[in-house]
Amino acid sequence: MEQKDLSFSYLEYESIEQLPSSDRELMEQAKIAVDSAYAPYSHYKVGAAVRMGNGKIITGNNQENMAFPSGLCAERVALFAAASANPGIAIKAIAITAKSLQFPVDKPVTPCGACRQAMIEYEMISSEKIRVILMGETGKVIIVEGMEALLPLSFKEEGLKKLKMKD
Ligand code: THU
Repeated sequence: MEQKDLSFSYLEYESIEQLPSSDRELMEQAKIAVDSAYAPYSHYKVGAAVRMGNGKIITGNNQENMAFPSGLCAERVALFAAASANPGIAIKAIAITAKSLQFPVDKPVTPCGACRQAMIEYEMISSEKIRVILMGETGKVIIVEGMEALLPLSFKEEGLKKLKMKD
């Protein structure tokens, strides 16, 4: 038996004003996206903005449904919209933020496990790390370079890629 240890580092900024300009621009877009979220059940509005390798920025927000599991997180709304409109183009960065109508969101919002798994797949497709920029409605911003840190030991079955469809 051998004990293995994992560690990771991330950047922490005191506020959105301290961010490098391209990260700040992406976070500003995520903040705009928050306001159009459809979150009548949780009253927790999430916005995400994705920067693509071709320079495009695509945003998304959470879309809830009265059949709760039928809704989708902001991150996957943005990622799937970005990838479906720009096949083959790398996803370089994603900014995520949120606002609650019931309590202050003053700590960085971190993506759920399913969204992390989706981000990992896009990293695998492009062989490029995604820069993940996280903040609440106010307060500090953290930046994590690459998904390995956010979802260690994630599901990655390379064998599935080798399966061919019979035509
Ligand atoms: N939500 C997101 O949009 N992203 C996350 O990473 C976590 C949660 C949404 C889902 C639901 O609409 C609301 O936030 C409360 O969970």
